[in-house]
Amino acid sequence: MSKEAKLSTWARNITPSPTLAVDAKAKELKAAGEDVCGFGAGEPDFDTPEFIKEACAKALAEGKTKYAPAPGIPDLRAAIAEKYVRDNKVEGVEPSQVVVSPGGKYSCSLAIMAVVSPGDEVIIPAPFWVSYPEMVKLAGGTPKTIFAGKESEFKITPEQLREAITPKTRLVVLNSPSNPTGTVYTRDELEALTQVAIEAGIYIMSDEIYEYLLYDGVEHVSPASFSKEAADSVITVAGFSKTFSMTGWRLGTLMAPAPIAKAVASIQSQTSSNATTFAQYGALAAMQQWDKSMEAVKGMLEVFDRRRLFLLEGLNAIDGIECARAQGAFYLFPKMDAFGLSAHDFASKILEEEKVAVVPGEGFGAPGYMRLSYATSDEVIEKGLERLTRFCSKLG
Ligand SMILES: Cc1ncc(COP(=O)(O)O)c(C=O)c1O
Repeated sequence: MSKEAKLSTWARNITPSPTLAVDAKAKELKAAGEDVCGFGAGEPDFDTPEFIKEACAKALAEGKTKYAPAPGIPDLRAAIAEKYVRDNKVEGVEPSQVVVSPGGKYSCSLAIMAVVSPGDEVIIPAPFWVSYPEMVKLAGGTPKTIFAGKESEFKITPEQLREAITPKTRLVVLNSPSNPTGTVYTRDELEALTQVAIEAGIYIMSDEIYEYLLYDGVEHVSPASFSKEAADSVITVAGFSKTFSMTGWRLGTLMAPAPIAKAVASIQSQTSSNATTFAQYGALAAMQQWDKSMEAVKGMLEVFDRRRLFLLEGLNAIDGIECARAQGAFYLFPKMDAFGLSAHDFASKILEEEKVAVVPGEGFGAPGYMRLSYATSDEVIEKGLERLTRFCSKLG
């Protein structure tokens, strides 16, 4: 007889990632020979650019297989600091402000662990990336969500943020471009939100992992670039997964005021030690050969953009579905509450009946919506849209 596991409060309270669950279910059906149209995965379907892979292979051949310094190899930290000054217009970033971690997900978790104490509140605008509330709970904090639906372009207002702040608030999470909505905040909108955070004396965790995946000519703006005061209030997280199609490499970044970066490096030194050493050399090539990197990104963006517009048009042509024109990342987040089914039931039914995998909105704090990733082939999008149209017409 197996002994009943005595799990911790944290382990009992954590919700497993619904996006990974949908992806796993779709992969299981595919492995069983089913013809699944997967819109679930949050990962580019391209290979990592060759020169990045070559740099990693070279490092491996040269024996760069030992522990690295906890915050990352010095050249990579320096190159990332330089990028923040050059590309993101953040003033005077030093390598000591940068930490390289095993994935953007872990960078977020480290940022939260570094500033959130038990009992602290963290404001999370919904729809949110599924992992933020769970990370806050793991740090002993309390997630407080504020909602902005399609009608408000999925953007919270400064008033909403101000009203949500209490004496216990420690941090607000901003994620532009956003997962799951693809929404991109403008410079003015971000400046206003940053000002509210500065006035209230709270930190911002700005998750900019999709910073290079932009369409329709919109610009990416880093809140840390606004002023010295802003830079002192913002922890910027990002990573290599989405920009360079390096999801399996597990490489994230964090840039913060030096004392926070130091605390983050200490937490990392006691939890994961460092990001994989030879992988960091691949990332270094991406940073040092920036023009080549941006050329590769441009190629991916052209494909993503074509798919975005195709999927957007197809979704909006379906009676009962309303989809905003997202301008970043590789997700669309249509409203589907007209069918009288919860998003969860809609997603289960369409996977069962039509073999189409979408992620229901509940996990993103947005019932009545679903997320479709267009980081998938044109063929899957075309076939998936046909099935979705058929399924919705049956629902009426
Ligand atoms: C908003 C957001 N932040 C962070 C991450 C983490 O990415 P990774 O851990 O692959 O670097 C993801 C991945 O899905 C994301 O969507």
